[in-house]
Amino acid sequence: PLQPVILSGGSGTRLWPLSREAYPKQFLPLASEHTMLQETVRRLDGLDAEHPRQALALLDPLVVCNEDHRFLVAEQLRLIERHSAGIILEPKGRNTAPALTLAALAATRSDIDPILLVMPADHSIRHEPAFRAAVADACVIARTGAVVTFGIVPTKPETGYGYIRQGSTYEIEGLTGHAYVLSGFVEKPNASTAQEYLASGGYLWNSGIFVLKASLWLALIERFRPDIAQAAASAFAGARVDGAFLRLDPDLFGACPSDSIDYAVMEHLAGDTADLPPAVVVPLDAGWSDVGAWSALWEVREQDAGGNVLDGDTFVHDAHNNLLIAQHRMVAAIGVNDLIVVETPDAVLVASKESAQDVKTVTQFLQREQ
Ligand code: GDD
Ligand code: MG
Repeated sequence: PLQPVILSGGSGTRLWPLSREAYPKQFLPLASEHTMLQETVRRLDGLDAEHPRQALALLDPLVVCNEDHRFLVAEQLRLIERHSAGIILEPKGRNTAPALTLAALAATRSDIDPILLVMPADHSIRHEPAFRAAVADACVIARTGAVVTFGIVPTKPETGYGYIRQGSTYEIEGLTGHAYVLSGFVEKPNASTAQEYLASGGYLWNSGIFVLKASLWLALIERFRPDIAQAAASAFAGARVDGAFLRLDPDLFGACPSDSIDYAVMEHLAGDTADLPPAVVVPLDAGWSDVGAWSALWEVREQDAGGNVLDGDTFVHDAHNNLLIAQHRMVAAIGVNDLIVVETPDAVLVASKESAQDVKTVTQFLQREQ
């Protein structure tokens, strides 16, 4: 079977003032009328029907999130009729490697070894059939004991992503698309390295979506970060079932070191070491975006003839390529271009699209003030 695992513990500070600590971006309907978490779950619908030979029986998703968001997650899943999803509650975030370890332990609890489809809860994918085709191919590959990543053709020297070196063609029967050997993985390179990778043309961005068997993840984390494997295992052993929730003990999970999947494991996988599992990259050409900033949301959303994305009670005149969100009061923009205006009851953001990455300085400022 295929076990979707949805990582939903992030805080999305670059989408202030809509995304707040109590209400991060994955719980907002940013790209469509559904929230990003709901989109992530719904994106898989049709996988079995469209790819009967490649795909595997879909299990109910497992969501790993912060304890504070348990009602948001449960309610959002209920609204899309996914009442039977499992929800693992972290008392405090320890980044994605411990979160995935908990999910792998939960997935293997009743002596099955499903293939895990690990997905961030806060990404937007425009062409869902293309995404499902890539996932179906990844399942074919992961079944043989490989680790599968999804690669995006890079368009700028972004330093917030992982870079995958694309090796030779990976041959296996039953694929509908292409796959390549992953011959290098560098998480969040510095600006000059990112520039080099972009210029060389041999690299893809890591989408942050992974497919591998649960037992393989457990073996990899045990090998590369035994401290995380052991701390997560004892926290899991001490966890308490509470309806759909699996609650972790704050002290036991608090003792777990913090690290990401990418640094803890992915960076170690490339190369020809005989005792490592094969690592493979499936290119993903599906309109992927991690909606990391307001400018990315402007790109993802449908624009009107003037290039504006308008949400709520808005008015524009002689204004182009702006993103205007009005939640509470009317927003009018006149003679301005490439602006971001996000109006909420208690805060208003005005930023140039170019400076969208710097919105996190506001949340840093607010944290210092507290
Ligand atoms: N449960 C849980 N607990 N989830 C978490 C935690 C945590 O402590 N920390 C982050 N997450 C979730 C986030 O909500 C997000 O959905 C996903 O895990 C990835 O975490 P990010 O913090 O957003 O990672 P990133 O964007 O810096 O980098 C990753 O994604 C890039 C693509 O967007 C890496 O995989 C990069 O290599 C990749 O390029
Ligand atoms: Mg991210």
